[in-house]
Amino acid sequence: MLKVLEHPLITHKLTQMRKKETGTKDFRQNLDEIAGLMAYEITRDLPLEPVQIETPVQTCNTFTLGKEIVLVPILRAGLGMVNGICNLIPTVKIAHVGLYRDEETLEPHTYFEKYPKTIHDGIVMIVDPMLATGGSACAAIEMVKRQGAKNIRLVCLVGAPEGVAAVEKEHPDVDIYLAALDEKLNEKGYIVPGLGDAGDRIFGTK
Ligand code: URA
Repeated sequence: MLKVLEHPLITHKLTQMRKKETGTKDFRQNLDEIAGLMAYEITRDLPLEPVQIETPVQTCNTFTLGKEIVLVPILRAGLGMVNGICNLIPTVKIAHVGLYRDEETLEPHTYFEKYPKTIHDGIVMIVDPMLATGGSACAAIEMVKRQGAKNIRLVCLVGAPEGVAAVEKEHPDVDIYLAALDEKLNEKGYIVPGLGDAGDRIFGTK
C-alpha cells in the first residue's frame, strides 16, 4: 500500500527543502519537522495495551503503546529523519543499515548493519528521505526481514514512481509512506523535480 501524506504543513516545509537556495541548517530543520509530522500520521494504528495506573486522584484504567518501535535509518541520509521521529517517540530503538549506491550501476552495497534484539517483534520503520530506484529500500527491507521483522513500514520524503513500483513488486507486504510522489527519475538516478542529493544537503557535503 502506498500512502502519500498530504498536509499543508508538510507541503510548505517540503517546498522550503526543495528550493536550491535553502542551506544546511534550514534543510535539516524542515526535514526534522516533516519526519515528526509523518511519524504522527503513520503511527495512528499502533496497537495499545491496557494498563492500570494510579493518578494522584485515583486508580485509572488506561493504555500504553503495546509494541516496541524500531527505527531503521538507511545510512547516511536516513539519519536526517531520526531526530524528528525521536522527539515524538523517545522510546524508539534505533537500528542502522549502511548502504551505498554504486554511482555507475546504481546498485546498493551493504557496509554496516546493527539491530536491536527485539526487532522481530517490533513495528519497524525504515527511513530514507529519497525513494529513487528502490534498490536501497528493497535491500534494507530484505535485511530487516532476515532479522525476523514482520511489521515493516517504509517512510520516505520524496518518491519516484519507479522506486514505488520496485518496492511494491518485491515487497507487497510493506506499506510505503511518502510526503510527495514526484514525476520520474532522470538519467543520473535523481528524482525530478526532487530536492537534489539529500545526504549532501543534510550534512553540508558535496
Ligand atoms: N538520492 C538523493 O539523495 N536524491 C535523489 O534525487 C535520488 C537519490
